[in-house]
Amino acid sequence: MNFTNKKVIITGGTTGIGFATAKAFINAGATVWITGRNNENLTKAASKIASENLQTLVADTSHMQGIETLEHVVISQDIKIDILFLNAGLAVFSGIEDVTEADFDLQFNTNVKGHFFTLQKLIPHLAEGANVLFTSSTVATAANLGSSIYSATKGALNKIAQVAANELAHRSIRINMISPGPVKTEGFDSAVTTDEAKNHLTSSVALNRLGHPDEIADTVLFLASEKASFITGTELLVDGGYTTFARK
Ligand SMILES: NC(=O)c1ccc[n+]([C@@H]2O[C@H](COP(=O)([O-])OP(=O)(O)OC[C@H]3O[C@@H](n4cnc5c(N)ncnc54)[C@H](OP(=O)(O)O)[C@@H]3O)[C@@H](O)[C@H]2O)c1
Repeated sequence: MNFTNKKVIITGGTTGIGFATAKAFINAGATVWITGRNNENLTKAASKIASENLQTLVADTSHMQGIETLEHVVISQDIKIDILFLNAGLAVFSGIEDVTEADFDLQFNTNVKGHFFTLQKLIPHLAEGANVLFTSSTVATAANLGSSIYSATKGALNKIAQVAANELAHRSIRINMISPGPVKTEGFDSAVTTDEAKNHLTSSVALNRLGHPDEIADTVLFLASEKASFITGTELLVDGGYTTFARK
């Protein structure tokens, strides 16, 4: 797939799925801006990708000031965005009785509020026919133990994405959700901490392995391409059969 001259913004592009997607878009000829919460991770990501077509920006998506920092860059550099990948996100797993207000706010502010207001602020800067992609999760529809708040954030995100797809269709903007199953990333390792939990998740995937971030990146590029020109408002599961596997 060729994305030469396309302008791509990826929130949460320093590690994992966002990083793999940034790399894939760069390799396909695009100019890419990635965000993250600190300069250290952004610098590491930039040195690994090592391309003059990559730009980095410290912008914490969980609060309005961070979102406005990104908006300001888009305005000052006069960027007409072809692809907006709203990917930044995190999970804190615990039973309902143990969830703290801080866990609740962190996940909702990052995974829902951040994406909603980033989209809102950047709508005027989306090119005609642009693509917006949200990283959701298989947990948006599942009801796994210990995932009440994380699942609720992804369910909310899907609904926002579906409404946005309808509201922006008149500008030929397509909006889709990618729902990964378990994927081996830095975020996965910090949210799923025991070998027992990792092994359980792995064996719950029909293909009997974790996904690789590049496999999610490939799906993002497909959905953002002309090959997916009649797909909008859709949630695409990229889960190795995790959702429908009967032997869980
Ligand atoms: N891995 C999985 O199994 C899996 C499954 C389903 C869905 N997902 C979703 O996939 C997305 C990416 O996760 P991942 O697994 O790739 O994890 P990851 O490696 O931890 O990547 C998360 C990215 O989000 C950034 N980020 C986190 N909070 C942020 C904030 N407030 N503002 C800006 N950037 C922020 C991180 O950057 P810094 O740390 O540098 O700030 C990092 O670049 C998330 O939305 C996650 O919910 C993952």
